[in-house]
Amino acid sequence: MQGIFISMEGPDGSGKSTQIELLKKYLEDKGYDEIIITREPGGTVISEAIRGIILNKDYTEMGYMTEALLYASARAQLVSQVIKPALEEGKAVISDRFVDSSAVYQGMARALGVENVYKINEFAIQGIMPNLTIHLDLPAKVGIGRKKEQAELDRMELEALDFHEKVAEGYRSLAKLSPERIRTIDATMSIEDIHNQIVAYVEQILNK
Ligand code: TMP
Repeated sequence: MQGIFISMEGPDGSGKSTQIELLKKYLEDKGYDEIIITREPGGTVISEAIRGIILNKDYTEMGYMTEALLYASARAQLVSQVIKPALEEGKAVISDRFVDSSAVYQGMARALGVENVYKINEFAIQGIMPNLTIHLDLPAKVGIGRKKEQAELDRMELEALDFHEKVAEGYRSLAKLSPERIRTIDATMSIEDIHNQIVAYVEQILNK
């Protein structure tokens, strides 16, 4: 079976985890017997430890470049330890966020520049990019409102609404730059409708 890499992107609270679970079931039915689900930052012991540093709400002094480099190092470990070997073995990998998150959050919302962010990530991703990226589009206010109901907010979620609005808008412009790979779905729709749209996009790449 051919390895396939799908990333799920969107503002905080856009419903990525729910959709990843549904997509996993769908791919299992399609015959992918081992589907690797992972998340960023995280997915390995080291990357999860880096996640703990990045999202610690006490680290208010963290510089934007430090933040961008920490995301890239968590990613470097995940790519070499999990994603690359899985794809080489023909498995399906679904990642809750990948390098596009850095492009949007650090490159656009933190204004470090998308080109700069891709440049520091070039080293981390070893040429691996998703075959398909699902962008769950949602007004920032709705996403953060959902997060507030679920759990204590982390360092990124605690950013002002203006930051989250830049993230939501950033995803829309990034998606326009790579319309073939990044597919935007209105995440205010029902869970089932969103899933059906995701399946339609996945079918397109499986049938290629
Ligand atoms: P999560 O809450 O979706 O697990 O993501 C953790 C937070 O980290 C979320 O606010 C998005 C942010 N993030 C970045 O700013 N840059 C990145 O490269 C990644 C992967 C996540």
